[in-house]
Amino acid sequence: MRSPFIASISGKGGVGKTTLTALLLKVLIENSSEDAILVVDADPATNLPEVLGVTIPKTIGDVVEEFKRRISSMDNLGFEKSSLLQYWIMRDCLVETTYFDLLAMGRGEGEGCYCYVNTVLTKILVDLIKNYTVVLMDMEAGLEHLNRRVDRYVNTMIVVVDPSIMSFKTAERIKTIAEEVRINPEKKYIVGNRIPQSMYETLIKWAKKIGYEVAGVIPEDELIMKYNLIGKPLLTLPSNSAAVEAVKNIAKNIGLID
Ligand SMILES: Nc1ncnc2c1ncn2[C@@H]1O[C@H](COP(=O)(O)OP(=O)(O)OP(=O)(O)O)[C@@H](O)[C@H]1O
Ligand SMILES: [Mg+2]
Repeated sequence: MRSPFIASISGKGGVGKTTLTALLLKVLIENSSEDAILVVDADPATNLPEVLGVTIPKTIGDVVEEFKRRISSMDNLGFEKSSLLQYWIMRDCLVETTYFDLLAMGRGEGEGCYCYVNTVLTKILVDLIKNYTVVLMDMEAGLEHLNRRVDRYVNTMIVVVDPSIMSFKTAERIKTIAEEVRINPEKKYIVGNRIPQSMYETLIKWAKKIGYEVAGVIPEDELIMKYNLIGKPLLTLPSNSAAVEAVKNIAKNIGLID
């Protein structure tokens, strides 16, 4: 058995992180016999379940809120509260589908809750990821310092860029912050989204300059827009669509599929 493939998908807002996560999952399901796959939506906006066509009963944020409401009456239970919270989360949040399991972080209510829910997710992942051979994590944009917490477990860091200097600056910052907190995943990849073939060379130069390897590019694909517009899951895109073909190549380049 190969060693677990644990990837985070991060980058500037709106560059295509959720789309890439969904498409990597699709090509993995269709091109491998991997059956221990966990997908984590680590973005409080919780878009990934919809893009995958999965209904999640509760997010970690929902359960944390419920826990806070009921905890006062549970003070005398005599065992660690955090174990109980973890048990609730596993019971109520982890969705099992035929091909993969899904866990969504969501958000808590009120100030400081984001940070708390993020900490809870980080703790839960320590044990949870041991049960899987592939873990794909769709990260939130713009909170690189918090994302890096979850990145502790990651051996493949994927940063999505679009044709904008801002997205490269974000990629650069993600790497700098990771280094500052001494996170050094084995592999650091850039994926170019909506980048025309003619800009490929520029992309490679940029990526090299900031210390990433280019895993590939995804073209602009009208079908993705169409599917998102009508709320059709990206997992049901035709396998021969331009974006899916491109992501299949990317999955090969990063060693996710053979
Ligand atoms: N290759 C593509 N071709 C066409 N449309 C795309 C492509 N990639 C992404 N999109 C569209 O761009 C929008 C943003 O994509 P996506 O939600 O994946 O970005 P994101 O990085 O996850 O955003 P956020 O930072 O809000 O989480 C979506 O509506 C999606 O349909
Ligand atoms: Mg997203």
